Amino acid sequence: MKQQRARVFFLLEDLEVEVPAGTRLPEVVEASGADITFGCKSGTCGTCRVRVVEGIENLSQPTPEERDFLAALSARPNERLGCQFCIQGDVSIDYIGS
Ligand code: FES
Repeated sequence: MKQQRARVFFLLEDLEVEVPAGTRLPEVVEASGADITFGCKSGTCGTCRVRVVEGIENLSQPTPEERDFLAALSARPNERLGCQFCIQGDVSIDYIGS
């Protein structure tokens, strides 16, 4: 059976990469050289904050801890912590940072 693929578009760099569905964003960034900074990679520093311009429904759901952290930052509904989700389908991402 063919593994599902997902396209990740980084707006800042005008860069599109294709990855196996289920890949985490830090792995995509490491492989592609996209400009997103990760600090803690555990959802506690906010340096990886991104705006999901398209395809937020194609990301794994946020944990209650991620929801609480983003709420404390007054984040918009389309913002996520880049270290906290798996990519399950096509998505367009813009980097915000902390
Ligand atoms: S790298 Fe710290 S919250 Fe994502």
